[in-house]
Amino acid sequence: MEVVITDSEEEIGVLVADAVEQLLTDRPDAVLGLATGSSPVAIYDELVRRYEVGRVSFARARGFLLDEYVGLPADHPERYRTVIDREIVGRVDFPPGAVQGPDGLAEDPQAAAVAYEQAIHDAGGIDLQILGIGSNGHIAFNEPGSSLASRTRVVALTRQTREDNARFFDGDVDAVPRLCLSQGLGTIMEARHLILVATGEAKAQAVQQLVEGPVSASWPATVMQHHPHATVLLDEAAAARLERLDYYREAYAVKPRWQRL
Ligand code: F6R
Repeated sequence: MEVVITDSEEEIGVLVADAVEQLLTDRPDAVLGLATGSSPVAIYDELVRRYEVGRVSFARARGFLLDEYVGLPADHPERYRTVIDREIVGRVDFPPGAVQGPDGLAEDPQAAAVAYEQAIHDAGGIDLQILGIGSNGHIAFNEPGSSLASRTRVVALTRQTREDNARFFDGDVDAVPRLCLSQGLGTIMEARHLILVATGEAKAQAVQQLVEGPVSASWPATVMQHHPHATVLLDEAAAARLERLDYYREAYAVKPRWQRL
């Protein structure tokens, strides 16, 4: 796992946009895994800037969301399908239908989960997966205790996650859905490159566990230690509890630039 400590969220945006731009240059029909929430916003803003000046195109790319709330009405502004359209899909040239999310309004959510796994498989799998991390160590909505081999399924959100996400629902924790459909840890681990971004002090403990803790379902993101190509980009606050902080800085400073992320 590579750890990159940056000066700012904007720098994270630039570095991850570089990786996405390179991928789309090499493979214009690449499959992107798109996270929602606050963490990827700087990445999406940077990608939109590059699209606007003609540096990058999504015209042949496809995308898959990590997760979706169960039961939020189609026109709800916090439905992840709506959020991702607002943050990136509607601002660049993804063709209609090129970005999919799990169907949180399906009558049979478990069947929708199985169909979603099949859709990812049929697309040839995800080339580059962007991830955030919850303060409790979740990735997608794989809450603590999730099987490290889990697949897309219905998950009950923890109180902690619902409190963390209440800021998107006017601070009302009761307005945050209790259930979601989430890619599993086993699903995420099949993506060819995982890029996790985290900023702010509230993520420091989860980041410390992710990078230096034992692999455990108690901190679901730790499964990424088993991934052959995982990159973690942090700001100073999120990196503050890492024991090997100096080493990560040195390793990145001497890294040959041709290696990229
Ligand atoms: C969102 C997702 C979640 C978030 C995580 C961090 O699609 O899968 O795992 O990445 O909850 O959220 P933010 O970035 O809002 O702090």
